[in-house]
Amino acid sequence: MSIESALPTGTDVLGEIDRLKRERNAVILAHYYQKPQIQDIADFVGDSLELSRKAAETDAEVIAFCGVKFMADTAKILSPDKIVVLPDIDAGCSLEDSCPPEKFKAFREAHPDHIALTYINCSTEVKALSDVIVTSSSAETIISQIPESQKIIFGPDRHLGGYLSRKFGREMLLWPGVCIVHEAFSETELLKLKAQHPGAPVAAHPECPPAIIDHADYVGSTSGILQFAKTFDGDTLIVATEPHIMHQMALAIPEKRFIGAPGADGNCNCNICPYMALNTLEKLYIALRDLEPRIEIEEGLRLAARRSLDRMLEMASGTVGLGDLGPAA
Ligand code: 13P
Ligand code: SF4
Repeated sequence: MSIESALPTGTDVLGEIDRLKRERNAVILAHYYQKPQIQDIADFVGDSLELSRKAAETDAEVIAFCGVKFMADTAKILSPDKIVVLPDIDAGCSLEDSCPPEKFKAFREAHPDHIALTYINCSTEVKALSDVIVTSSSAETIISQIPESQKIIFGPDRHLGGYLSRKFGREMLLWPGVCIVHEAFSETELLKLKAQHPGAPVAAHPECPPAIIDHADYVGSTSGILQFAKTFDGDTLIVATEPHIMHQMALAIPEKRFIGAPGADGNCNCNICPYMALNTLEKLYIALRDLEPRIEIEEGLRLAARRSLDRMLEMASGTVGLGDLGPAA
């Protein structure tokens, strides 16, 4: 029996979420890739960096994280005194799965003169083995503060790493992970779509492969793409990222047309993130009711992971530079 079907018949899920949120002093954080119903009841919807900042700043006692596990883990690393719940504990990420900590550790040890600049889409263990974490919205600001002479390992997303490497003209050692969602966009189908909508710009997430990025007029994080959607000159935009972000575009700019870039079958259903989709309103209600599934992280590991996340938060908001990196844990 699924969790949802165990709910008493007639449960007013939205009303109960609202009641429990107040009773628990909880904040609901949601990523742009969540279902529209979840985005609509969230207290804050944002990209990975914005959600990390919110998690670090909130004075709520409970964080209900509607996103994937590495995001909820990040909230717990930054806010250890809060209860952090994730509606579906199986909401993982193909990038996290591609990078087992023991293999990453061995890779680091084989390249002792490199620092590890690591995408936030990874496990807490990999964060603990890294020097600086980046998100897609902070990566460029952070790389520009790293001296040219410093060698870099970038993981686990080879497409984001490759994009940054090309943009900055810097060689980096890339871990071979990919996001299965962005990997599924088809260049052939994108070109057909562009031909059907002449002049419509393409906005793409840097997790896309280079064949898609090469056709993009704008490349950036989810919040960057949303900002581009609000400001581009024209009436139709082709969006090459997970399609649930188009909910925010339709709310903010209802007069414009947003079209999801297609997968190989010419239909964009294959670009829905299967991990993000595991969260439902019913599971969110149960998470607030039972305060489970709860994120727990062993304190030594949490402190080690916090170093690289704190560096991200500092470097993302200014020009503090690398400082004294010290050895990775
Ligand atoms: P951003 O929201 O930071 O652009 O990242 C997207 C993502 O990978 C979510 O899994
Ligand atoms: Fe991971 Fe890709 Fe899903 Fe983001 S969209 S959670 S990178 S699988």
